Amino acid sequence: MIDSKPTLQTLLDHRSIRKYTGEPISEEMLTAILEAGRAVSTSSFLQATSIVRVVDPAKRTAFRQISCDMNAQAYEQAQADGKRLGHGYVESCAEYLVFCMDAKRHHQLADVNTDWTEVALIGAIDSALMAQNVLAAAESLGLGGVFIGSLRNDIARASELLELPKHVVPLFGLCLGHPDMSSKINQSQRPRLPLDVLVSTDTYQVASDAALNDYNEQVREYYHGRGIQMDWTAQIAATFGGEVRPFMLEYLNKQGFMSR
Ligand SMILES: Cc1cc2nc3c(=O)[nH]c(=O)nc-3n(C[C@H](O)[C@H](O)[C@H](O)COP(=O)(O)O)c2cc1C
Repeated sequence: MIDSKPTLQTLLDHRSIRKYTGEPISEEMLTAILEAGRAVSTSSFLQATSIVRVVDPAKRTAFRQISCDMNAQAYEQAQADGKRLGHGYVESCAEYLVFCMDAKRHHQLADVNTDWTEVALIGAIDSALMAQNVLAAAESLGLGGVFIGSLRNDIARASELLELPKHVVPLFGLCLGHPDMSSKINQSQRPRLPLDVLVSTDTYQVASDAALNDYNEQVREYYHGRGIQMDWTAQIAATFGGEVRPFMLEYLNKQGFMSR
């Protein structure tokens, strides 16, 4: 068994890692962290997840392009102008894993209906839990990583790249590698909502404006320390203020999910 940091310390030390040293992840480490993913709990023992490991550099570049949400022509023009757009860490990480919710195997083995919304919830929950096991295991071995939801900017293209059949949907990626701790972007931990806002007992407690404002200030200070003018309110508005990937339901229906 490889040496690893204690679980609680590993979890409390978490921060997303977006700069890597370039050193590859050994087979032994990769196998150990994938086994940690395989061991996770799974709804009704359904195991509704698959992982696609992306090693082809051309595919990594395509995923980077998807991450900046531009059409191919605009992206190529930006490249020609010397701009390096999108999530560079999708290309530079040692391993890039895509977590997919997967009902394909269930259709291979049995006559089943997997277009219920509940099935998609099962698939998404199973996949997220497995991915967190994988990241936590990697972090316990001194590796670091970051999840990549931006592949859903063009989920149809992401599916094509991985040649996913019907009943399989790519949910998010995970970059992994040896952290470059000399890089500032890896050094700080983002402040989280305090426990008294996060957790209530017996009945749901609506957060007070004062508690939310305090937290917003903390986030503003965190960003200020990184030279960025931003707070949590602005972050929320940037993500949920307009349409949120409105093509998703149509795509999920096409893949055989969530038609009822
Ligand atoms: C499902 C999911 C998708 C994410 N997608 C992205 C992404 O596309 N790009 C990115 O840079 N970070 C992404 N992140 C990382 C979050 O931005 C990060 O976890 C959050 O800001 C908190 O920071 P921390 O992980 O350093 O504590 C994602 C995280 C999750 C859980």
